[in-house]
Amino acid sequence: MTKVLIATDKPFAKIAVDEIRKIITNAGFELVLLEKYTQASELNDAVSEVDAVIIRSDLVTPEVISAGKNLKIVVRAGAGYDNVDLKAASEKGVVVMNTPGQNSNAVAELAFGMMVYMARSLFNGTSGTELRGKTLGIHAYGNVGKYVAQIAKGFGMDVYAFDPFISKESILNDGIKHIETVEELYKTCQYVSLHIPANAQTKKSINFDLLNLMPKGATLVNTARKEVICEDSLIKIFEERSDFKYVSDVEPDCKALFSEKFSGRFYFTPKKMGAQTSEANINAGIAAANQIVQFIKNGDTTYQVNK
Ligand code: 3PG
Repeated sequence: MTKVLIATDKPFAKIAVDEIRKIITNAGFELVLLEKYTQASELNDAVSEVDAVIIRSDLVTPEVISAGKNLKIVVRAGAGYDNVDLKAASEKGVVVMNTPGQNSNAVAELAFGMMVYMARSLFNGTSGTELRGKTLGIHAYGNVGKYVAQIAKGFGMDVYAFDPFISKESILNDGIKHIETVEELYKTCQYVSLHIPANAQTKKSINFDLLNLMPKGATLVNTARKEVICEDSLIKIFEERSDFKYVSDVEPDCKALFSEKFSGRFYFTPKKMGAQTSEANINAGIAAANQIVQFIKNGDTTYQVNK
């Protein structure tokens, strides 16, 4: 019997697991659950007997791929697949997919939650500022960026987007101002919200020169990946500009230094929270389960990212 593993260090909401179970068992497959594991070896062991695996930010290393003797497909229930070793998967003929768009609204809402929290001085009782009328730059206009833009319009922000992979027309059609260069985006916007993936081109790409273009009272919002930030640059900009603020969904490696030196000017979630809603878990989990069933039964490779 085809076995499908859910391997989540950060578990889905129970309701999402129940929905996934229904889809998997209705297809005649068996569901295996590995949640809140602490050792990589637990994932290696669990994957050794299954045909398919659903993961979140869980690390799928070459060891995991080689431990999966029968493994045919890995579905990352979410957008970013920088946690999956695509080369190792491709070499072994394992299909890797993501579920684009399924958790995007949850991430966008968190971006706003953090922006309001920072604008209101971390709710410490002192006078803060409003988002209405402020400039917001969306760095990469993908699924999350689009939701952020929609919400920003509701807040009355002046919204700009930069994305070299998206046509100017589609940005303008959404009523968002199009910006031609990344430098122009940072120069124009008091708030910049990052929605770029973490890859060889983007890692450490958010550097001092870029951040220093931002106007006075700048806030950088990161619901993307900590790896896209050059942390030395982040420290430098905080040291040189007392107006600069940073909110991030997941702590940077330099968190201890921030706590020591820059209190009140940053907020970091203790664990990646962007997609942690029942709705996002259900949407991404159901999509992942359906994609596995369609792949095993019909060979459907829509959403494959290692083609
Ligand atoms: C994603 O890439 O989909 C988001 O960062 C969510 O990641 P998570 O499933 O680990 O919360």
